[in-house]
Amino acid sequence: MTIAIKNAEEIEAMRLACRLASEVLDMLTPYVRAGVTTKEIDRLAHEHMVEVQGGVPATLNYQPPGYPPYPASLCTSLNDVVCHGIPDERPLKNGDILNIDVTIIKDGFHGDNSRMFVVGEGSIAARRLCQITYEAMWKGIVKVRPGARLGDIGHAIQTFAENAGFSIVREFCGHGVGRRFHEEPQVLHYGRPGTLEELVPGMIFTIEPMINAGRREIKEDRKGNRPYDGWTIVTRDRSLSAQWEHTVLVTDTGYEVLTLSAGSPPPPAFVGSAAVAAS
Ligand code: MF3
Ligand code: CO
Ligand code: CO
Repeated sequence: MTIAIKNAEEIEAMRLACRLASEVLDMLTPYVRAGVTTKEIDRLAHEHMVEVQGGVPATLNYQPPGYPPYPASLCTSLNDVVCHGIPDERPLKNGDILNIDVTIIKDGFHGDNSRMFVVGEGSIAARRLCQITYEAMWKGIVKVRPGARLGDIGHAIQTFAENAGFSIVREFCGHGVGRRFHEEPQVLHYGRPGTLEELVPGMIFTIEPMINAGRREIKEDRKGNRPYDGWTIVTRDRSLSAQWEHTVLVTDTGYEVLTLSAGSPPPPAFVGSAAVAAS
């Protein structure tokens, strides 16, 4: 396995792509409310990425082996959808929880991030799932430093989520990111401390745990007799699922979260402010 070490120039380009990806989510935030369709959110994001940011939506027509081309400029994963939900014409309803996952290509580099949105007030259970998932992502992020191993990240996320009574999806993981959308390494959101690849300054990868309120098993979302859309993944037990995603750089002393912008939610209290500001 070879994990790319980004040079100073590449890191600077990734900083820009990642900030823009985060700013797309900032821009979308006021639109995520009851009555709005995810297709409308997709259209707003597409226009912003192309016309305002001078970038390209990485997901549009993205086609990994065995998949049909992805038909939208972001992913919208609603309620029991685990990931890769395709925007559609159904209006959002109060109480829905929605993950919006935005990946932009700017000057040849990918910035990849996602956030959860609760439509209206939301149930206590739904809000707790989103909050615990956010904290779980950060439990992984704070493990990032030279000499740490990928297994340390996965273990921190898994332990935290399972102690809260939730389960970790195994089939999808974080990934290296740069000139390509999905690069090595795979970043599992479960595992054993001290195992897997050792982190080295200049590595850039995502941390993007998918956490289910119920059991961890997933399935393809086959609705009745309609053909499968080729992408949408739901929880097998139809319980709620949440996900957050940041793109992170390994620095000489720790980590730098690249997908931050003015509208990023603040890190949880357990994250030392010095670590986030350091870059
Ligand atoms: N953005 C997703 C990730 O975090 C990948 C989406 S691929 C798509 O890796 F084709 F479904 F858009
Ligand atoms: Co990703
Ligand atoms: Co993503």
